[in-house]
Amino acid sequence: MITKPKGTKDIYGMEAKCWQYVSRVIDEVMEKYNYNFIRVPVFESSELFHRGVGETTDIVTKETYDFTDRGGRSMTLRPEGTAGVVRSFIENKVYGDDNKPAKYYYNMPMYRYERPQAGRLRELTQFGMEIIGTDDPLSDAEIISLAVNIYSLLGLKGIKVNINSLGDSKSRNNYREALIKHFEPHKDELCSDCIERLEKNPLRILDCKVDKDKEIMKTAPKTIDYLNEESKERFEKVKEYLEIMQVKYVVDPSVVRGLDYYNHTVFEIEADIEGFGAQNVIGGGGRYNNMVEQLGGPSTPAIGFAAGFDRLMIALEKENKLPKIDNSVDLFLLYVNEDEKKYAAYLTNELRMSGFIVETDYLARSLKAGFKQADRLNSKFTIVLNSDDLKNNEVKVKNNKTREEELVSVDALIYYLDENIVDEESSLDEHECNCNNSSDHECSCDKTCKCKDKE
Ligand code: HAM
Repeated sequence: MITKPKGTKDIYGMEAKCWQYVSRVIDEVMEKYNYNFIRVPVFESSELFHRGVGETTDIVTKETYDFTDRGGRSMTLRPEGTAGVVRSFIENKVYGDDNKPAKYYYNMPMYRYERPQAGRLRELTQFGMEIIGTDDPLSDAEIISLAVNIYSLLGLKGIKVNINSLGDSKSRNNYREALIKHFEPHKDELCSDCIERLEKNPLRILDCKVDKDKEIMKTAPKTIDYLNEESKERFEKVKEYLEIMQVKYVVDPSVVRGLDYYNHTVFEIEADIEGFGAQNVIGGGGRYNNMVEQLGGPSTPAIGFAAGFDRLMIALEKENKLPKIDNSVDLFLLYVNEDEKKYAAYLTNELRMSGFIVETDYLARSLKAGFKQADRLNSKFTIVLNSDDLKNNEVKVKNNKTREEELVSVDALIYYLDENIVDEESSLDEHECNCNNSSDHECSCDKTCKCKDKE
């Protein structure tokens, strides 16, 4: 048997339906924030990620899927979305003032050759968002609150937002020197990768998976202590906007992110859920004011965020917040002879085009087995086509809930079904309403909510 590659997943059945539902919620939220969907290639020239993500990051040095195409070009499967989106922004010359800021979002698979474990895959899915063309601290706060709002609209409670600032390039240089001063005397305690990082990019020592628990890491200088006045003021502004937007956060100086392109605001969102496991960072992002220029475009500030879709689904499952999926079909059409089957072919097509979810039989089932199948599919109605009824331009419609049968004129069938089919749309699990309204009120929350005053 040929099996799937290590670190990949088949998503099918109910799980696939949950994924689609969550994707739709993301689409709806992103639309409200006026972000445009973008799709970029699954592979790009390797140089893009080397220059965009950084030569000294683990992602680029150890985790990329690289290949040479038949034309001898060096290609890489995208390990993340930001570099591709920025490449597209530059290549399509979106940088004119009228288009700024350009707001994009995506939901796509990424590829990282990591050691697979729960919540860590080689083919992972991320949904992400980027605002390119503004340095306004409001955009930093907006991205963070947007991420938090998506999680909270999905009903996820246990999240923790950790923010930090790496400052501007001057602050980063000061910090870099402080790190060299700190680690240099302890060089022999570091792993061989970190010794190399000490020369090339000491910040990357801080996200080393090998040295992470050593004392020398715990006593390392903190970015926040090396911010110049301008960077400090900027960070204060971001925090002020977050407070106005009522986003709860913690300033965590250990957040430095594993990619090279960040400056100023960086943040990670953690699943604060019992038993979630080690891979608890469900999303992360930050400002990357230099990437557009580094990749050949005009100097353009930007900020973005990406969330692990796979980890989000684990979090929803752990909190029992997976959406309840309405898995029913509207109508199952049964027939016995070939003439009725031909009519079934016509009618299923008509009804589907009119917006109904319609199934029929493709396995020459007996009527008895057909009824069973209709039950299995939670069909709301069943029609058994019968040549005599069809002569009168009628069909027999059975309501599978009440078990009542009615002869309905084919001309009126669509109206009949419209009247009688009650849509039980997929809904999020019951959630506690966060409308903060304790007095009597009609709750405007449109979810199944526990708000005690809601009728
Ligand atoms: P990242 O922190 O590398 O950032 O990835 C974002 C999220 O993707 C992580 O927080 C995690 O939830 C998920 N993730 C990463 N690797 C894996 C994996 N192997 N298996 C499962 N999930 C994973 C970025 O990719 C940046 N591009 C984010 C960004 C956008 N910064 C600015 N704009």
